[in-house]
Amino acid sequence: MSHTSAPVPLTSAAGSPLKGTIRVPGDKSISHRSLMFGALAVGRTTVQGLLESEDVLATADAMRAVGAKIEKQDDGSYTVDGIGLGSLLEPQGVIDFGNAGTGVRLTMGIFGSHNIAATFVGDASLSKRPMGRVLNPLREMGTNVIARDGDRLPASIRGAEQALPITYRVPMPSAQVKSAVLLAGLNAPGVTTVIEPIATRDHTEKMLKGFGADISVSLNEAGERVIKLTGQPELKPQDIDVPADPSSAAFPIVAALIVPGSDVTIENVMLNEHRTGIITTLIEMGGDIELLNKRSAGGEEVADIRVKHSKLKGIMVPAKRAPSMIDEYPVLAIAAAFAEGDTFMPGLEELRVKESDRLAAVARGLEANGIPCIETEDTLTVTGSASDIGGGTVVTHLDHRIAMSFLILGIAAHKPVTVDDGAVIATSFPTFTSLFEKLGAKISANSSEAA
Ligand code: S3P
Repeated sequence: MSHTSAPVPLTSAAGSPLKGTIRVPGDKSISHRSLMFGALAVGRTTVQGLLESEDVLATADAMRAVGAKIEKQDDGSYTVDGIGLGSLLEPQGVIDFGNAGTGVRLTMGIFGSHNIAATFVGDASLSKRPMGRVLNPLREMGTNVIARDGDRLPASIRGAEQALPITYRVPMPSAQVKSAVLLAGLNAPGVTTVIEPIATRDHTEKMLKGFGADISVSLNEAGERVIKLTGQPELKPQDIDVPADPSSAAFPIVAALIVPGSDVTIENVMLNEHRTGIITTLIEMGGDIELLNKRSAGGEEVADIRVKHSKLKGIMVPAKRAPSMIDEYPVLAIAAAFAEGDTFMPGLEELRVKESDRLAAVARGLEANGIPCIETEDTLTVTGSASDIGGGTVVTHLDHRIAMSFLILGIAAHKPVTVDDGAVIATSFPTFTSLFEKLGAKISANSSEAA
């Protein structure tokens, strides 16, 4: 179901305990990058466990538009026949990224140092999001940009004949910005340096190294990460096995914690240290979460995560942990609604520029369901254990994580919860409803059935 189609309201309601073992889909960040880096390599990359969501499929189309051949094989894997760095073809039509911030920002980085013209568009959510954070460093590298006021989509770019390698200090904690500059640096002669004052997810660095790029990471005296990339390498195709997405796993983890009697195992979840802030936080809140069968797969640590219903308590979530759980605050707010006392979440300014203004969307959703909360410019405080919660309708603003988080609320609340559009879930987690039904949850497109 496409997010561009008619909205599909969904309702969830309390039922039996959640029980069973599931596998959530492949990691979204790694899936995007597998297709992109495969397209830039010379030869055939294979990808097992690619996340087949709207966001990732938009990236596949963008890479096809510049000449890569991307095909699904009978065994469910994908092959990417790369066209090679420096050899991208000029796309014939506009590149529509739908809802995908990661897809468009990283692709702007790749195209921005190639001497081709490209125009990017997106849905109503993506068209509101700031692109200047990526377009500004690209301008420094010589890319010509024409964008809508405020550097929003639609935007057209044309890379310089020869891009300039730059040294760039990332002004906000953003793996997308860091990655866009590094990816532009791939086709710039010389060394591109990115200084990252606050560490963010490092999939670009790790995966580019795997593809054979000359990339190093060190810490300067101030403790900032300094990433140096030598441009114009020949990237070598890889065989990639995408581990399960910890951001998607966060939904069944929180659900199992808050639905009485639950016992759920989620298999093969990636535990990259820049992604696991939510697990640390939920354990601090008293969550019974075990990491079983820890092992290494494709350069990342993975584990099976077993979660049992737990009595949670409110805590202060350190602001410095925010980059390692930036996508998980909406569902953390739901866990906080079931915790005893207040959960205080500072350092949330980046939530204002996600698929929606997530700070506002979460606060309005909590209020609509009788859960006390206080929203400031960059903090959220949720007071847990209110009686008689639920019963509200939540506005999702084309934001998949808002939709999923409030459906989790509904399966644990006293009264059913409706989200105004469940179709947006296809952005990142197309099997969300069926997996939750497998665990015993009640989620329905017809509110009277779920209730
Ligand atoms: C992503 C980085 C994060 C995250 C997004 C995926 C990535 O965005 O919110 O869902 O794959 O690089 P920012 O880097 O802008 O915080």
